[in-house]
Amino acid sequence: MALRGGGLVAIPTETVYGLAANIFDERAVRRIFRVKGRPADNPLIVHVSGWRQAVALLQDIPDGAEELARRFWPGPLTLVLPRNASVLDCVTSGLDTVAVRMPRHPLALACIRAAGVPLAAPSANRSGGPSPTTAEHVWQEMRGRIDAVVDGGASRVGIESTVLDLTAAAPRILRPGAVTAEELSAVLGRPVRHARGTLRRPSAPGMKYAHYAPATPLLLVTSEAPSRHERTRRIAIVRRSRGERIGLLAPAAYSGIPHDAMYSLGRGRPVDYARGLYDGLRSLDAARLDRILCPGLPPDGIGLAVMNRLLKAATRCM
Ligand code: TXA
Ligand code: MG
Repeated sequence: MALRGGGLVAIPTETVYGLAANIFDERAVRRIFRVKGRPADNPLIVHVSGWRQAVALLQDIPDGAEELARRFWPGPLTLVLPRNASVLDCVTSGLDTVAVRMPRHPLALACIRAAGVPLAAPSANRSGGPSPTTAEHVWQEMRGRIDAVVDGGASRVGIESTVLDLTAAAPRILRPGAVTAEELSAVLGRPVRHARGTLRRPSAPGMKYAHYAPATPLLLVTSEAPSRHERTRRIAIVRRSRGERIGLLAPAAYSGIPHDAMYSLGRGRPVDYARGLYDGLRSLDAARLDRILCPGLPPDGIGLAVMNRLLKAATRCM
């Protein structure tokens, strides 16, 4: 198959689509960085078909790692662990740790098993933009640059995995996802913190790399629940009266607010936000709007992961 011969294949996972290559093929791994326009100092996640395949890449495995894998794999949890010499520097950007995860999507697992090697796979988008959650998203962006796309339908979770660093003195979530700090800490039996800045908007020019951002400016409405709807309505009305074309990325209950385009986040539960977020940003981006308005969420459970992405994608919060 293409992966064994050094090809790049986009594969579906339950979180987002990944752009996969054989982790032992340096040329193929370098090609991932080129095709994505990804800075070489941003390491890749290695996808495995089970704990045993991960262990072959690791050394000095910290306490709790295997328990977490047993509890949450296959699933949206990535573990950062000390690596051994078998892992290429280009995969980990020279770090002495490696990020590993076992995805849940049956086609992802089938690809890893068929390749017979772990697969390095970042999200299959151009660096900086929203991650892809359908084969169509990947195709629109990557056509002609990669060897194949495996179509596994829409990603069920919709946002990237939780990245947990187990190599420091205390376990730390580097990127929040569907597996929450509370769930992790219940298994580890000790507190799990979030990295600083998880719920902060990167100060525009100072931030190192743009993330998840649509081309259309995104305005995040962060006021508390009772007034959030009214606030969004007012902003939409004022902006439209100035001639701006406004897109709404919001729960169905917001559809009465004047708009030029809307992507419905259904019932507006945190899981609905997660599932619709990137598809919504992409489809509103295609609608020639001046601004996208999105009401925020309380940062609880997977809502924290959603707000982490929205805060990074937003040009402004109100
Ligand atoms: O859900 C996901 O994790 C998806 C699917 C395809 O599995 N993948 C994904 O990959 O989101 P990517 O490359 O877009 O994000 C990987 C994140 C980056 O923030 C990267 O910096 C971090 O994981 N990472 C990778 N290796 C690391 C390491 N050794 N230490 C710390 N962070 C690491
Ligand atoms: Mg990514």
